[in-house]
Amino acid sequence: MLSISRRVIKFVKLALVLLLIISIIIVSTNYSETANDAVAYYRTSVQEYVDTYILPDKENNKSDDEALEDIELDFENIEKGNDDEFEHDMFADQENPTENEQIKSVSEFFHHMFKTIINYSPTLKNSKTYKESCLLNGDIGTRPDNYKDWYKLTKDNLGDCLEISDDELAHLRDKHAEFVLALTGMDLQELTTAKELSEDNSINSYYKNDGIVIVGGDKYTLLAFLSIKTLREFNTTLPIEVFIPNGESYDRKFCNDLLPQYNAKCIYLSDILSEETIEQNQFQGYQYKSLAIVTSSFANVLLLDADNFAITNLDDIFESKVFKDNGLVLWPDFWRRTTTPKYYDIAGINYNPSNRVRNSIDDVSPTEIYNNRENDLDNIPFHDFEGTLPDMSTESGQLLINKNKHLKTIVLSLYYNFNGPNWYYSIFSQRAAGEGDKETFIAAAHYLELPFYQIRTGPGVDGYFKKEDNNDYRGVGILQHNFIQDNARYEKAVEDYKDKKFGPFTEEQVSSFTLDTFYSHYFESKSTKEVDVMFIHANYPKFDPVSLYKSKDFMYNGDHFRSYNNLKRINNFDLELCVWGTLKEFVCSNRIYFPYLNHALDDDEEEYAKMCKYISDRADHMEATHKEALSSD
Ligand SMILES: *[C@@H]1O[C@H](CO)[C@@H](O)[C@H](O)[C@H]1NC(C)=O
Ligand SMILES: *[C@@H]1O[C@H](CO)[C@@H](O)[C@H](O)[C@H]1NC(C)=O
Repeated sequence: MLSISRRVIKFVKLALVLLLIISIIIVSTNYSETANDAVAYYRTSVQEYVDTYILPDKENNKSDDEALEDIELDFENIEKGNDDEFEHDMFADQENPTENEQIKSVSEFFHHMFKTIINYSPTLKNSKTYKESCLLNGDIGTRPDNYKDWYKLTKDNLGDCLEISDDELAHLRDKHAEFVLALTGMDLQELTTAKELSEDNSINSYYKNDGIVIVGGDKYTLLAFLSIKTLREFNTTLPIEVFIPNGESYDRKFCNDLLPQYNAKCIYLSDILSEETIEQNQFQGYQYKSLAIVTSSFANVLLLDADNFAITNLDDIFESKVFKDNGLVLWPDFWRRTTTPKYYDIAGINYNPSNRVRNSIDDVSPTEIYNNRENDLDNIPFHDFEGTLPDMSTESGQLLINKNKHLKTIVLSLYYNFNGPNWYYSIFSQRAAGEGDKETFIAAAHYLELPFYQIRTGPGVDGYFKKEDNNDYRGVGILQHNFIQDNARYEKAVEDYKDKKFGPFTEEQVSSFTLDTFYSHYFESKSTKEVDVMFIHANYPKFDPVSLYKSKDFMYNGDHFRSYNNLKRINNFDLELCVWGTLKEFVCSNRIYFPYLNHALDDDEEEYAKMCKYISDRADHMEATHKEALSSD
């Protein structure tokens, strides 16, 4: 017995040494950065990241509302700003009486809009139960090793999950139909004539210019500031509006003293709605993003989550052809779409289950290239058929929208968001990771048959290997790509297929064609550079100094370490140096007042000092390791 177990131990040791050698070889090959290995490495990182980032919600069985940790404020709990002295009025300095007249009608328009949304909201409550037989028990991607799970996305299987009774379906359908009818009547032209204003005074001229909108409030105000600092670091000059959901008296110092130095300002619901309307409607966190779009004064908007960092200059984004043509640009999540087919019955959208028009993101190749091997239409994902919402599912940490072109999209998405926690979030996502407002914009535009562009290049991740935990990979942020470059590649594909049935692909490639053949050729080509990263959605964890300091995150044996390590991939931008340097300067040295910090630390000076020690040590570590981080890959 003893000798056997000795032998076993010896064998295990040998195996471990071998494994170590192999891993070193693999790692060093990866580091040699041939395009191929980089792609393989990147794929594993994505998978590992994805595994870490979806688990928490599932383990805790968080409800929809709780899962929306991105936005977690509540109007009821926060003082309302009634202070005359600080009364915020965007147009106070505008003397022009027609403009004031216009605002009055705009405010009436919004009042009417909210009333309509509430009037036609479903009154039944969703029990949010899923059938036992539902096959959606994990998110499904588009990589070759996910193909085997695609059958779970057929019409029958997607329809076999969220339970909606016939009565509920009829109720939702009636309400939806009544609402969209009212939406047609909510014609902005009519509003203009009713008020006998000049043609120019429609809401379309209320929204003007280009800009960036970020939802702040509480911890998100501090995060928004970090995001703004980065925008300005890259010399983006677009004006910025920070939506403060808590009311006008909150974050006053930040809004009045700090933001103007960055060509930014705060906006409030009271800019468009009367106090009365605000009080009548109990606005909630999940509605803030769509409310921020509506409230913002810009016509063309980049909506950015507060924990999202643009790492390139954005001044040209609204001039791009793809934005001008579509007026709505959406970035992808890691997953294929899981919307229930019942949505199409509710909204009365026609689809054709016998006409496959794409394979996920590939709507360029003729579908027979796929059908050759997948003849059985019964096994094809539902959202590959004509009339359905296309893949991918959406990651709404960034979104581009032309509000004049897409005003109805905004109003309908507001309806979906109002009824999101109760109905539409589960209808659109069916428990998929990040269920929330993410699909409400694309669904609204699709319903209204308004154009949009979905970025094809899949999201990436950055992160590190956890010393404290078997060197497991921990992703810390989602990397989203440059939509203009992405669109150029998509257009190239369209061009390639124009006169050639199977585009640039050889007979051999066609005979074994998969989605990956298309994707690798255009978006991960070995011969061309990867599409540049445009945004780092640093959402897991967020750069919230209070929770990071409390959990001593990103420290090992008392030392700080970096969480973002592939700086080459993020345009050589040292995000952590920028973030921690900014926190050190503003939160600690200059002690700018962020109410969130004082609340979160119970106004305890000692705690504040300890947090600042963490911040300062981290900033120093970034400073000391900056050169090394830039040169390593
Ligand atoms: C989560 O749900 C599962 C199955 O519905 C249940 O067994 C488990 O106890 C729940 N976990 C928590 C933390 O509530
Ligand atoms: C931003 O502008 C400054 C001043 O012109 C310049 O020094 C800096 O390199 C620019 N930053 C970037 C990222 O281009």
